[in-house]
Amino acid sequence: MTVVVIVGSQWGDEGKGKLTHYLGPQFDLVVRFQGGSNAGHTVKTGGETYRFNLLPSAILYCEHTCLMADGMVVNLTRLLSEIKFLQERGLWGDNLRIGSHAHLVMPYHIFLEELEEERLGGRAIGTTKQGIGPCYADKAARLGIQVGDLLHPPALKERLATAVEFKNALIRGVYNRDETYSVDKIYDELMRAGETIGPLVVSSVEMVRGYIDEGRAVLCEGAQGALLDIDYGTYPFVTSSHTVAAGACLGTGISVNDITKVIGVSKAYTTRVGNGAFPSELTGEIGDHLREKGLEYGTTTGRPRRCGWLDLVLLRYTLKIHGCTELALTKIDVLDGLETVKVVNAYRRNGDVLTATEVSNEQLSQCEPVYEEFDGWGGPVSGLRAEEDLPPQLAQFVDFIEREVGVPVRMLSLGPDHDETIWRTPKLKQ
Ligand code: GDP
Ligand code: IMO
Ligand code: MG
Repeated sequence: MTVVVIVGSQWGDEGKGKLTHYLGPQFDLVVRFQGGSNAGHTVKTGGETYRFNLLPSAILYCEHTCLMADGMVVNLTRLLSEIKFLQERGLWGDNLRIGSHAHLVMPYHIFLEELEEERLGGRAIGTTKQGIGPCYADKAARLGIQVGDLLHPPALKERLATAVEFKNALIRGVYNRDETYSVDKIYDELMRAGETIGPLVVSSVEMVRGYIDEGRAVLCEGAQGALLDIDYGTYPFVTSSHTVAAGACLGTGISVNDITKVIGVSKAYTTRVGNGAFPSELTGEIGDHLREKGLEYGTTTGRPRRCGWLDLVLLRYTLKIHGCTELALTKIDVLDGLETVKVVNAYRRNGDVLTATEVSNEQLSQCEPVYEEFDGWGGPVSGLRAEEDLPPQLAQFVDFIEREVGVPVRMLSLGPDHDETIWRTPKLKQ
């Protein structure tokens, strides 16, 4: 039995899409288990770049099945346009299935999120404005509409009427706005989308269990990163789902005992989109270098990403929370040419030096990073394909990270392309 989970170990955009696509051919089923179109996963292969917001990043392998599982929140308009994009290029293999319990992101979720971010003003979260928070909030409040409801139109209409009545009252009463939503209009749109989506709806639990029981290999692709987890991230500047590896169980119905490997993905530096504390943030020349060389602009929103040095205090925390059995280190090439490269290995807070910390926005905003400094390795490294060819300074940098976080570093990503990858033999055995 092989069930591998890929998860982001920072604030998202670590390169999960590249790794999922890379490993995809080895798996019979590839599953996205949480989040929605707030995610933007990039796959660069054969000279083409693909960006997926909802589709699992192995969708280009038509002979392998992909599942958008129950833990996801799905914007049908966005999903239809991703499917159409592939159809128009002859890349659609009808290899997608969608869990019946996944929730639907409605137009009122997106609008209410906009209103709420505006109301918060300076305290705004800086969301992707994809309606993710309001959709998960409705799920918890038992006001949500599930993908499977598309197959039961009368019940769907009744549930929709209950939700829309409340949303209209909220828009008018709390936000003092005149916009109203029509049940009939949303219902008609859902029915139209249902013509394409309906045949793809499955029981996510039965499907995943079926693969596992037959001994077939399953890959679970996380979205966002551990520091954006609703419970274990830098609350309240987080997303609204379980981005940690345990989310793969919650979002699919896989048992914790089924998971055989958890791969954490981290850049060789740190980025963050949206607001919230970021101890190692660099606002000067080096921050600009990382943003421009790393093309650090959001896949979903185009916003410039905030950039800083790799933070090992945070990485130790996220790898523990995930239960990572190995680490994939990405975007190493972005550090090419720097004279020195730094990592945070401790924090100074109220006169104390800490190598671990409670992760909350409040605590992190009081931390001053303590850096470890390394010689740069020149470069470029993107053409290297063997571990033995790594410049010694880079090999030392990777060894240091591995030793300090206590998790074997297996994959080194040296460029966005599929081929710009080295599989390393870890010095640390687990
Ligand atoms: P994800 O959300 O974790 O899938 O990551 P994103 O796709 O949002 O962001 C990662 C970006 O870095 C994408 O533009 C990738 O093509 C790119 N990328 C991935 N790995 C590497 C790498 O090793 N080097 C460079 N230069 N770019 C990379
Ligand atoms: P991938 O899967 C980076 C951030 C937003 C914001 C916070 C809440 O590509 O790594 P939301 O719209 O989810 O309510 O926004 O979370 N965020 C991401 N940052 N990568 C992502 O996904 C993200 N998804 C959400 O910027 O700070
Ligand atoms: Mg991304």
